[in-house]
Amino acid sequence: MSHIAKSNLTQAQLDAHWMSYTGNRQFKKDPRIIVSAEGNYYTDLDGRKIFDGLSGLWTCGLGHSVPAINEAVAQQVKTLDYSPAFQFGHEKSFQLAEQISQFMPEGLNRIFFTGSGSESVDTALKIARAYWRKKGMGTKTKFIGRAKGYHGAGISGFSVGGIPANRTLYGQGLESYHLPHTQVAGNEFTKGMPDQGKEKAEELLNLIALHDASNIAAVIVEPMSGSGGVIIPPKGYLQRLREICDQHNILLIFDEVITAFGRMGAKTGSEAFGVTPDAITMAKQVTNGVIPMGAVAFKQEIYDTFMDTGGPEYMLEVPHGYTYSAHPIACAAGLASLGEIKKQGLIQRVNDMSPAWENSVHQLKGASDIVTDIRNYGFAAGITIAPVDNEPSKRPFQIAMEMWDKGYYVRYGADTIQLAPPFITEQSEIDSMINALGDTIKKHS
Ligand SMILES: Cc1ncc(COP(=O)(O)O)c(C=O)c1O
Repeated sequence: MSHIAKSNLTQAQLDAHWMSYTGNRQFKKDPRIIVSAEGNYYTDLDGRKIFDGLSGLWTCGLGHSVPAINEAVAQQVKTLDYSPAFQFGHEKSFQLAEQISQFMPEGLNRIFFTGSGSESVDTALKIARAYWRKKGMGTKTKFIGRAKGYHGAGISGFSVGGIPANRTLYGQGLESYHLPHTQVAGNEFTKGMPDQGKEKAEELLNLIALHDASNIAAVIVEPMSGSGGVIIPPKGYLQRLREICDQHNILLIFDEVITAFGRMGAKTGSEAFGVTPDAITMAKQVTNGVIPMGAVAFKQEIYDTFMDTGGPEYMLEVPHGYTYSAHPIACAAGLASLGEIKKQGLIQRVNDMSPAWENSVHQLKGASDIVTDIRNYGFAAGITIAPVDNEPSKRPFQIAMEMWDKGYYVRYGADTIQLAPPFITEQSEIDSMINALGDTIKKHS
């Protein structure tokens, strides 16, 4: 396996960058350097074109180097490169907040800006605790996440998250408990939403019985788990979580950092699966990945609670925010990105093409008996690969690296290959990626 790039980097430069979520030692021996991107393709240092089978990191549904975003960003840098995020405003943040709320389910119309998905999760969890205090229920502080959930790299995110490898090194986090995941036996190779697993929502009742609703602030789940393996919610599962949260006065937060803005063939995962939470965290696709930005959409009653109990009007209702909240360049990119999603009708496109996508990815079932499960929804798919040498991520890593050599970027996480092509992908590009993946999987059987 060789993908030696003609890098001019010195060893000192390679050593200086402690790369995130990367096997640094392996990478630095054999760097995979990307130099440019356009449309659905990267170009590496060797001048090879590489199909972007994960839309960046689930970020770039519009593809790369989108003229409308490029122009908006260039114009914004020249006009207002930064403005203080606290106590002063610029017009684009208000315009973007209104634009985002049009993508959100009805009632989730108060938007708090952050700089990333992790900050969005932190924001949602802090506001959940503060909300209950404002309501005179300050004992409601604990959180419930889910096994295999991913909610970012912050202390709060890893605490409510449920991917063991992301939790091993860090010791004590926030006080939080976990629902079981819904990737249950019997659902293998289901197309779309699986039939079994709804009953896993009942575990929330057990956690409530043990810890008492008076101590629980919020339940946080991804409507579709992305990094944990592209796990599609079973039919009725999210509805049941909603019912239980309502019955026990617990906030329900959907982490839609991956699923918001089209990936599911709907405006949000909430819309796709027909359940409205109390808050939605988002990031990634909001700016098409071009400039870091995140946000949380809260239902209006949460916002109103803070306004109604905020004290004198000059006082901060919420002492919370980030230097880069509502950064003007990110807002310009966000307005252009969401504008293009609408203008190009991309949510409908994903919806229209998802049956063909589903058929294509499920063809991999026949590729080899090391493919033990395939899951899909919208323009996302997860392919589980049987472990070798008791190392679940070894084969997926080898497969992903070989795909890179062949000119396709796909992501691996634990035992799963994740696929999420740009919304503008043509069927011929899907066919070519799936054929290459089938051949590669066979080779590793
Ligand atoms: C569901 C979910 N939440 C939160 C995050 C964290 O986002 P970020 O890496 O922008 O902090 C991610 C990142 O992949 C995610 O998938």
